[in-house]
Amino acid sequence: MSTPIITVRDVSKTYDEGPPALAGLDLEVRAGEALAVLGPSGSGKSTLLNLVAGLDKPSEGSVTVDGLRVDEMSEAGLARYRRDRIGMVFQFFNLLDDLTVEDNVLLPAQLAGMSRPVARRRAAELLERLGIDRHVRAFPGRLSGGERQRVAVARALMNRPALLLADEPTGALDSASAADVRELLTGLNADGQTIVLVTHDTALAQACASRTIELVDGRIARDVLRTAAAR
Ligand SMILES: Nc1ncnc2c1ncn2[C@@H]1O[C@H](COP(=O)(O)OP(=O)(O)O)[C@@H](O)[C@H]1O
Ligand SMILES: [Mg+2]
Repeated sequence: MSTPIITVRDVSKTYDEGPPALAGLDLEVRAGEALAVLGPSGSGKSTLLNLVAGLDKPSEGSVTVDGLRVDEMSEAGLARYRRDRIGMVFQFFNLLDDLTVEDNVLLPAQLAGMSRPVARRRAAELLERLGIDRHVRAFPGRLSGGERQRVAVARALMNRPALLLADEPTGALDSASAADVRELLTGLNADGQTIVLVTHDTALAQACASRTIELVDGRIARDVLRTAAAR
């Protein structure tokens, strides 16, 4: 078996008050997997995603991604890590409304110092592949929810991340747009993109995930591998 792209080792996360959000969690994710993280509200799903994304640090344990100890990185290291290795998609898109679709998608490349012509070519390619090329000059506010999420996915993929992380990517979408995003993520994984997604949307997990874990009270209560035939 290939070395895991994510290794979470005995990770606990405690906030100032309340029970631990994560309690002694162990998890390995391999390149090419599409992992769906399910579980009731408050079970630690977003916390887990944030630790993998380097947006937060564990109270105990280690988080290794793509060979890097994310939990030990400096702020500057984390910024570089997120820029170069991680693409993130959120429930409410987090697009910049006063930038055009194209400029939103170009942003990560700009931060990485990619030359403008190369970046524009890559953005055009992504926008076409995601079926939103006709909106390049539009502002996100003019787009439907499903289109906005496609733009967010394009932006997340701009720097060819080792890992695409999505937190409730269909949570704010109508059912047609949700189906759209479902298909998109499933296609990306079929093309080899490693994906970790947190979702309540069982249809999304069904369609996209090669593996499903369920968190309950900050622990993994279930871990199920699915064969391609079952998808
Ligand atoms: N920034 C925070 N400060 C304090 N408690 C938090 C914070 N973030 C999450 N929590 C708590 O940690 C637990 C897990 O939260 P979260 O990971 O957001 O769950 P989920 O995404 O599964 O709904 C919850 O009890 C939540 O209230
Ligand atoms: Mg959450």
